[in-house]
Amino acid sequence: MQISLVAPSNVTAKQGGGAWVVGAMEGGHLLPGAILADKASGGALTRALKVSRFTGKQGQILEVLAPAGLKPSRLLLVGLGKADGVDEKGLETLGAQIVGRLYAGGESQATIEIDVPPASKKGGSKVKKAELAAHLAFGAKLKSYAFNKYRTRNLEEYEKKLKTVRIVTSDLAAAKKAHAGLAAIADGIFLARDLVNEPPNVLYPAEFARRAKAQLSRLGVKVQILGEAEMKKQGFGALLGVGQGSARESQLVIMQWNGGPKGNKKSARPIALVGKGVCFDSGGLSIKVGAGMQGMKGDMAGAACVVGTIASLAARKAKVNAVGVIGLVENMPDGGAFRPDDVLTSLSGQTIEVLNTDAEGRLVLADALTYTQRRFQPKALIDLATLTGAIVQTLGHEHAGIFSNDDQLVQRLQAAGRHTGERVWQLPLDPAYDKMIRSKIADMKNIGGGNSGAITAAQFLQRFIEKGMAWAHLDIAGVAWQDGEHKPTIPSWGTGWGVRLLNRLVKEHYEA
Ligand code: BES
Ligand code: MN
Ligand code: ZN
Repeated sequence: MQISLVAPSNVTAKQGGGAWVVGAMEGGHLLPGAILADKASGGALTRALKVSRFTGKQGQILEVLAPAGLKPSRLLLVGLGKADGVDEKGLETLGAQIVGRLYAGGESQATIEIDVPPASKKGGSKVKKAELAAHLAFGAKLKSYAFNKYRTRNLEEYEKKLKTVRIVTSDLAAAKKAHAGLAAIADGIFLARDLVNEPPNVLYPAEFARRAKAQLSRLGVKVQILGEAEMKKQGFGALLGVGQGSARESQLVIMQWNGGPKGNKKSARPIALVGKGVCFDSGGLSIKVGAGMQGMKGDMAGAACVVGTIASLAARKAKVNAVGVIGLVENMPDGGAFRPDDVLTSLSGQTIEVLNTDAEGRLVLADALTYTQRRFQPKALIDLATLTGAIVQTLGHEHAGIFSNDDQLVQRLQAAGRHTGERVWQLPLDPAYDKMIRSKIADMKNIGGGNSGAITAAQFLQRFIEKGMAWAHLDIAGVAWQDGEHKPTIPSWGTGWGVRLLNRLVKEHYEA
């Protein structure tokens, strides 16, 4: 689907075919584009309004098909709600809803002409004209995602007719600039979604690493891949322990985007993102039951988010130094697999008694976290992982869990979450929980053994955070994928969760 922004003078939709999409505020008050469309159609909109339940509430759509005396195939009157309730997130949802409606109607092209009154003393939307068009376009693009590469039959059933969407804006230059940044983010989200959706027989660690490198190098990101021999030499005992029951080789991928200050000064230190990349989690010898194993191809969503985020930072040439480090493994049971009761020596030197091989993500992250801190001394460290079923029990699918030693970082992520819709909810860290992972024979064990499983997992990670490091752990097990579509901007399965959140965080607080 091709999305373009155009100036009002270039609008030929009124004469040409396709859908003409216009807006109304709550109360049914028509916006300028809608008044124009109403006049051109001899009052088709006002007539339709009278016999419908359309009130202009955000998300409502009134459709007039084949309006008499008009070239456009249909008019779509879209409700924007109250002006002061129009925000970027809401516009994205609207853009997606419009595209969804046009998909259903079999439309092939559309021109969207929606101008919300700007903020005045009496209220109004705080979103600028240019941002309005850009976020409508972003929402439209997000809705266009589909993962159909493994279908071979009835393809026409899945093919979308909608090919071109034009969005009219009177502030074209600024809108194009805003849109370029968002388009880069959309590409990063799609990359993350693709990685999560790929089946595990196709996307095993080395293939994941290869794709990350291929996608990122062409954007100017420095990518380095460590295999098992190198990691063994360096002492990645925890990560390698998880991968040792798999026929596939474990990998560590290091991605560096250097868009910020150069040199060794403190301001040049990067922000670091670390991701759990378990390409398939069978549970290992502590094997999962059938229903619990289904979907575990998505257990690399943290890593996918890191790759998607670094890609979008590079694509929009963000003025920031960012590193991504992902640990890629497959957790499988075979004669060489690690066992419950094994003791692993992590890269940090700390020893871990493994009591459940299904608590593998924290083992992978432990070494990735140590490596990242030692090599980069980042100014902030954020890890993302589909770490526990317990977080799904706690927060469901609306929030990711956040655990952190730094209140400012938490507040920033919470604010970014409210803005983008990728929300986070803080849960505690506390020595009382740390006690629960004490081992009888090693420095720690890999499970808490009681309740509060998401918290003991976070406590485990904190043992690998060095003194003074500002760190946040995001447990994304409940938000990384979903069964079915629940929001217009998020498709079924891989959600690409976190790419928007982290881009917002970086944009607000780390870009020069
Ligand atoms: N990858 C899972 C967590 C998970 C569960 C993600 C459901 C998404 C949906 C993780 O590796 C795991 O198996 N965790 C165990 C830990 C337990 C053995 C302490 C869990 O949550 O059951
Ligand atoms: Mn597991
Ligand atoms: Zn896992």
